[in-house]
Amino acid sequence: MTSDELLARIRLNGAVPRHVAIIMDGNGRWARERHLPRALGHRNGMKSVREAVEGSIQAGLEVLSLFAFSQENWQRPVTEVTALMSLLEEYVEREKAELIANGVRVRVIGDLDRLSPAARQAVDGVMDATAHNDRLTVQLFISYGARAELVRAARRLAAAAVEGTLDPADIDEDAFRAHLYTNGSPDPDLLIRTSGEQRISNFMLWQLAYTELHIIPVLWPDFTRRDLFAAILEYQSRERRFGKVTA
Ligand code: IPE
Ligand code: IPE
Ligand code: MG
Repeated sequence: MTSDELLARIRLNGAVPRHVAIIMDGNGRWARERHLPRALGHRNGMKSVREAVEGSIQAGLEVLSLFAFSQENWQRPVTEVTALMSLLEEYVEREKAELIANGVRVRVIGDLDRLSPAARQAVDGVMDATAHNDRLTVQLFISYGARAELVRAARRLAAAAVEGTLDPADIDEDAFRAHLYTNGSPDPDLLIRTSGEQRISNFMLWQLAYTELHIIPVLWPDFTRRDLFAAILEYQSRERRFGKVTA
């Protein structure tokens, strides 16, 4: 099926997921298969990001979350980290006008204090420039680790308790959720991981509790909106029970 045919089927089925999250994996293997440096794999992954964003708009999603750089990825060789950071700056600068034209709001999520001043400036710039858009929210996870996010939430709750503004008895799931980076965003309905790896790799551990998983062998630089639409179509046939029994 072509991407247009898949999209037509999705629309016939009706409800689409509100929030799709993607672990964009396989850039290195894509490069290795071609005897290219890993950085070129990352560069070729940029057009897949565009595919995912445009496909999400076409499908009518509310939120698209993209895992671009994990906290653990800081431990990669400095040359690779540098290449990834400059690609990030380049992506943000080059796509900003298009994102604004498409009504995309960009929210960058993670420990942004670790970014270089230039990368930080680029990231803050795109968030400011798109803050009022509401067609699609793209959450870009950079320097992000879910365990660190959970620890940060716990620390903030503890600080409020010590200050006397929060009674520990009032700490419930809503209070906890309010201190996550993703506060205000619905939990992902569907998680796509490319490159075939069957793991979560410290991504949104809280938010993925009842998310449907969709793992595909496609390496990230080969990902197109067709893959997104195929995942959404397959998602539409799933039965989500959330631990309950169906009537
Ligand atoms: C995903 O591709 C991009 C990042 C994690 C930054 P990888 O660089 O992990 O590619 P593989 O997994 O080595 O193929
Ligand atoms: C997960 O991919 C992180 C991102 C896609 C940004 P990794 O390639 O870092 O994960 P592992 O090492 O295979 O678990
Ligand atoms: Mg990988």
